[in-house]
Amino acid sequence: MKILSARDYDHMSRQAANIISAQVILKPNCVLGLATGSSPIGTYRQLIDWYRKGDIDFSQVRTVNLDEYVGLDEGSDQSYIYFMRHNFFDHINIDLANTNVPCGTNLDEKAECARYDAVIRGMGGIDLQLLGLGPNGHIGFNEPDDYFPKSTHKVALADATIQANKRFFEKEEDVPRFAYTMGVGDIMQARRVVMVVSGAGKADIVKRAFFGPITPQVPASILQLHRDFVLVADEAALSKL
Ligand code: F6R
Repeated sequence: MKILSARDYDHMSRQAANIISAQVILKPNCVLGLATGSSPIGTYRQLIDWYRKGDIDFSQVRTVNLDEYVGLDEGSDQSYIYFMRHNFFDHINIDLANTNVPCGTNLDEKAECARYDAVIRGMGGIDLQLLGLGPNGHIGFNEPDDYFPKSTHKVALADATIQANKRFFEKEEDVPRFAYTMGVGDIMQARRVVMVVSGAGKADIVKRAFFGPITPQVPASILQLHRDFVLVADEAALSKL
């Protein structure tokens, strides 16, 4: 595990964008695993800026997103497919046919999970997976549990996650209760994992996840075992170490 300490959110975002940019330059047709939420927005903004300056070419890049709310589609501005287009894909020269997000409106859970795992396998796995860290230690929507789920599955969102994510919705009742998410096994098989974490509110969970025991009750803790895991965090998020 490597920890990169950043001064603040913008610095964290530039550091993470630098790592992703190097990946795309070294392997133009690489597979990027992508995340949504507040943490990676600055990283996407920086990558868009470098794309506009002519420094990065996304034309051959392929992507797989971590997760999607069950029941939402790209018409909903709270869906993760909408988020990705709005915050990243619509601003770069990526071929949308090469981007993948679980299909929230496929209510056939078995078929959707099998389809998504086949997509990841068909791409030859993930070169670089970008992650945020949930307030309860979740990665993707792999919530605290008694085991580490291996592959894509449907999950009931933990109350802590509903509370954390309600800020994006008009009211708490609007937060979907279920999501499709890649499994912890899928994430652990990514050749490199980069996590962005910012703010004092994440300081306790950063300490528990990366300096505490490896346990499915703190799903991110398993990243301690990943052979190429980079935590990019600002000073506030690292303040309890
Ligand atoms: C998003 C995701 C989640 C978030 C996490 C942190 O695709 O899978 O695990 O990364 O909930 O969210 P933020 O960055 O909003 O604090």
